[in-house]
Amino acid sequence: MQPKRYHRALVALHWLLALMLIVALALGTFVVKAVPNSSPDKIGALQGHMIAGGLILLLTLLRLFVRLKTDHPAPATTGNTLLDRLAPATHWTLYLLVLLMAGSGVAMSVLAGLPGIVFGGVGTLPANFDALPPRAVHGIVAKLLMLAIGLHIAAALYHQFIRRDGLLSRMGFGQR
Ligand code: HEM
Repeated sequence: MQPKRYHRALVALHWLLALMLIVALALGTFVVKAVPNSSPDKIGALQGHMIAGGLILLLTLLRLFVRLKTDHPAPATTGNTLLDRLAPATHWTLYLLVLLMAGSGVAMSVLAGLPGIVFGGVGTLPANFDALPPRAVHGIVAKLLMLAIGLHIAAALYHQFIRRDGLLSRMGFGQR
């Protein structure tokens, strides 16, 4: 029989990653990008961002593993076949965008030699990261990820408050 809720490890990872992603997107946009590389505050901003981004990458890989290894509730329905097909596609797109976001961040940091500069104090930051191709990917994927997270939240709220089907309890702790 299919369970009523997702596995508790997946539930914990879902809410932890939701929080971490929203904070990383907000701080990435309003702090990391906004502080010029010439500012003395930039190294500290990059340290926090790179550690958080690396953690997001590891936790997302762990989450994918747990998702594939555990059983989950039957697909939720909206009463509309097209919307019902869109839901799993959006979920896999979210995983893909997070991996692209973290992957482009790692690629940018390797190309710019950031691990040594930011954590080892060896060398200096370039004037900016604009010449590095992964920098453009990181910026575009950030906007796509914000859009996908917005759609995901809107869909969850639609289920919970308009269809009143108790969808959120599937991503909650309790008897499975
Ligand atoms: C999923 C995890 C991550 C999220 C959500 C995230 C989010 C962001 C956002 C929103 C920006 C501003 C982009 C823009 O508007 O153009 C940014 C910039 C940046 N991120 Fe990330 N990031 C992540 C992972 C990483 C990782 C793993 C690294 C490096 C190891 C990294 C390094 C950078 C750098 C170097 C910048 C550019 C700052 C600048 O232009 O001065 N990010 N990030």
